Amino acid sequence: MSPLSQFKAVIFDLDGVITDTARYHYLAWKRLAEAQGVHFDEAFNEHLKGIDRMGSLELILASATRSYTDAEKLALATEKNEHYKELIATMTPADLLPGAVEALDAARAAGLKIGLASVSRNAFEVLDRLGITGKFDYVVDAGTIARGKPDPEIFLKAARELGVAPGDCFGVEDAVAGVASIKAAGMYAIGVGDPRVLAQADIVIPDLAAFPLN
Ligand code: BG6
Ligand code: MG
Repeated sequence: MSPLSQFKAVIFDLDGVITDTARYHYLAWKRLAEAQGVHFDEAFNEHLKGIDRMGSLELILASATRSYTDAEKLALATEKNEHYKELIATMTPADLLPGAVEALDAARAAGLKIGLASVSRNAFEVLDRLGITGKFDYVVDAGTIARGKPDPEIFLKAARELGVAPGDCFGVEDAVAGVASIKAAGMYAIGVGDPRVLAQADIVIPDLAAFPLN
């Protein structure tokens, strides 16, 4: 019996876990940053993973040579989102990462409740394009969250709406901020990616093809 069978719910992140939208966020932020004269690479992007839109923008503009008004920031965030929406417009179920559907189905077969905790305001659209909306018992609406990751609010809300105590949940995340959010919520954390980066996770797997319940 898998040690994960003691849990009652699993709460997944979306971008970079279920589908490779982390790449699209990277490309859209890189274009914006470079247009503002800010150097942008994979290492810097690692700090943005899991961080909400305005928080990410603030981190990028902190390296710019001038300051920005609130109206300018809003315009830049809108421009980035429009670029991102162009990138996700052609997504189909073929864009599910290896093992993603199997992980969702294995969690269902194990009797777990299944939640989604993404700070992306595009999460509902991405789930629809991937054809997996119906596989979740509850999807947090990022627009209802006051404090983004690494604050635990989004994972705690998912647990509450699923009717499961945080200690009976585990979370699945590809971002440093996301793993920190899961741990701050008092949950078991599965990191997806590089164990050196996701050092706070309880276990780290390379991708969902290695999901322990599959
Ligand atoms: C997170 C991503 O899931 O969503 C971040 O890891 C992204 O890279 C954030 O910035 C917000 O997404 P959106 O779609 O609301 O701009
Ligand atoms: Mg992510």
